[in-house]
Amino acid sequence: MLRKLSTLALLASCLVSQAQLDKEVKMNQFITILMQKMTLEEKIGQLNLTSVGFDVTGPILSQGVEEKIKKGLVGGVFNTYTPVAVRKLQDIAVNETRLKIPLLFGYDVIHGHRTIFPIPLGLSASWDPALVQRTARAAGDEAAADGLNWVFSPMVDIARDPRWGRVSEGAGEDPYLGAQMARAMVKGYQGDNFILDNTVLACVKHFALYGAGEAGRDYNTVDMSRLRMYNEYLAPYKAAIDAGVATVMTSFNEIDGVPATANKWLLKDLLRKQWRFNGLIVTDYTAVNEMIAHGMGDAKKVGELALNAGNEMDMVGEIFLNNGVDLVKSGRVSQATIDAACRNVLEAKYKLGLFDDPYRYVNEARNKTAIMNEAKLALSKEAAIKSMVLLKNANQALPLNAAKKIAFIGPLVKDHRNLIGNWSGAGDWKKAVSLWAALEQKFGADKFLYAKGCNLVDDPALRKRLNDHDGQIVLDEKTPEQLIADAVQTAQQADVVVAVLGEAFGMTGEAASRSMIGLLDNQLDLLKALKKTGKPIVLVLMNGRPLTLSWENENVEAILETWFAGTQGGAAIADVLFGEANPSGKLSMTFPRNVGQVPIYYNAKNTGRPFDENQKYTSKYLDVPNTPLYPFGHGLSYTTFNYDDIKLSKATITATDKLQVSVHVANTGNYDGVETVQLYIRDMVGSITRPVKELKRFEKVSLKKGESKDLSFTLTVEDLKFFNADLKWVAEPGDFKVFVGTNSQNVKEASFSLK
Ligand code: NOJ
Repeated sequence: MLRKLSTLALLASCLVSQAQLDKEVKMNQFITILMQKMTLEEKIGQLNLTSVGFDVTGPILSQGVEEKIKKGLVGGVFNTYTPVAVRKLQDIAVNETRLKIPLLFGYDVIHGHRTIFPIPLGLSASWDPALVQRTARAAGDEAAADGLNWVFSPMVDIARDPRWGRVSEGAGEDPYLGAQMARAMVKGYQGDNFILDNTVLACVKHFALYGAGEAGRDYNTVDMSRLRMYNEYLAPYKAAIDAGVATVMTSFNEIDGVPATANKWLLKDLLRKQWRFNGLIVTDYTAVNEMIAHGMGDAKKVGELALNAGNEMDMVGEIFLNNGVDLVKSGRVSQATIDAACRNVLEAKYKLGLFDDPYRYVNEARNKTAIMNEAKLALSKEAAIKSMVLLKNANQALPLNAAKKIAFIGPLVKDHRNLIGNWSGAGDWKKAVSLWAALEQKFGADKFLYAKGCNLVDDPALRKRLNDHDGQIVLDEKTPEQLIADAVQTAQQADVVVAVLGEAFGMTGEAASRSMIGLLDNQLDLLKALKKTGKPIVLVLMNGRPLTLSWENENVEAILETWFAGTQGGAAIADVLFGEANPSGKLSMTFPRNVGQVPIYYNAKNTGRPFDENQKYTSKYLDVPNTPLYPFGHGLSYTTFNYDDIKLSKATITATDKLQVSVHVANTGNYDGVETVQLYIRDMVGSITRPVKELKRFEKVSLKKGESKDLSFTLTVEDLKFFNADLKWVAEPGDFKVFVGTNSQNVKEASFSLK
């Protein structure tokens, strides 16, 4: 019987792959025939990705753009959505061009399209890939209902420097967690093979190492050893490729002295040959042109470099469009290179089904039902709740008791705009539920005290910078002194103060690096004034990066990190504050004590002189401990969890064995709760130095008050492997430690060896 079943399964898999093969042959034939009809100009036109904005009446078409589309000189557009606007452009492409090739429609759908979910850094703090996949699915569904067929997400750049504004867009510092999130998002957006018309092309970015810019400054130089790349930075990109991501975006930074967009090693050797990526490569926004400023040559030269490195679509800069023909005619770029690039663009369109139906994503009826529907709003709230991280909770200050007199103070209490964060795409901030609105809805008006307390940003220079670029920071009519005085008076009437503070959305995201990453001075002044009232303070943070919170940690009772929580953010925060939901998020990025500790990350090396209190010449600072304020993986709950000692199934394993790592976890507090149990390993001796800890597994476990569970993780030799000095993926025999715990610092440990 078994034999029969497996024969059937084999047959089925052969049939599937035969069917896939047939499909591919058909696609290749179609594209070959189409390309035989194309001129060189038209082929190069397919490589042109142009940005077209729109307003209520449709796309804002300059004469130039319209003419280009008509001449077949545009392969795809981005920044235009809605069925009406997309139809208008697609009409031109399929009715007014010689070959009627449909356009791709891309957009920066980063954490939701219309319904906004928490920022990606927040989503990753859920440590819940299935949840993240659902948010990407919902975003893809909305995008597809809005005419789009391509999203520029996920961003999977590992980041260890919270000064970098774009940490908000990624999944933090860890390659293993990052890889899980990358996979989840690709699957969420793309579904299975674009069979359904609500699945869209995903685009993993920014390839590669964009998160490692020096000093946390955006677009800055990256210089990194191959060992570090392979062992610490590349896993999330690779995970996206293995999950079948359809497109890859190059990064702005250089690698080994060559900008990623011209880097043949990166795009050809690593991406195409080693990883066998066969989808579409698109540059970042004007990244080809920017190679002129990098000092790589003039427009023609950088076009030549980018094409020969394997870029296929040129985002916005039109270097390919303006120089491609000359480059081919002069022999600097081969016809075969252009053909291969054009073929990949056409393949993406074919896979989406656009040649069968160019209007596949233009569906007004679907648009009405899919966007911001009840299910998506519920998911937005669920994701916001599961992303929040309880950083501190002394004296069980949280959850709040609604019978007490509570004062909500701060410029973000009533705020909608910042709640949806940066890169909130087509999200309408006016539809975001503020904390105050949620409180009113839950408890009725006038239940709580309120004072604004301070401006979100007082500093004129910073305000100008933010407002120059859509910051929308408006100063209050009252002076800062009056605002604080009002807040103090309000606090004095209360039993407990909830201060809602953080960053303006424009302080995170692209081109939003900060050299100091604490609360702004005026917000800290408010907090200090509130502290003087002697009232217990709960600090609710809305922000897009790890902040330095040393003073806050010392001086307030509780700190709840809510990130920029999205469309339902306020409702989610209200549920958590009053205990209807119990926070369960865990940091995916270390919170330093001060900026001088940066870069700081848990999977660091031991060095030859690890810190020793009794020795002078050890690796340390004189003025701050080596440890972070809140480590990677940290996050409290309203309940408490106890971990028993780890049990191992064996003390020694061979390369073919499985090691069971078991631990008993008990909910010892007063609430039902969810704990993320984390497993790390350390390779004690290696042919290259190995990190002091590496995350290898995690599991979320839901435990009722008083309940306990045995958890078991299975490790194999695969989990012990790393890239050695020859970049070979190996496990080396020897001693290992395994740690299980509630965060990367607070763990139980055991030892085993690999024979
Ligand atoms: C530049 C950003 O780096 C990238 O992430 C984004 O997708 C493009 N602009 C398009 O807006």
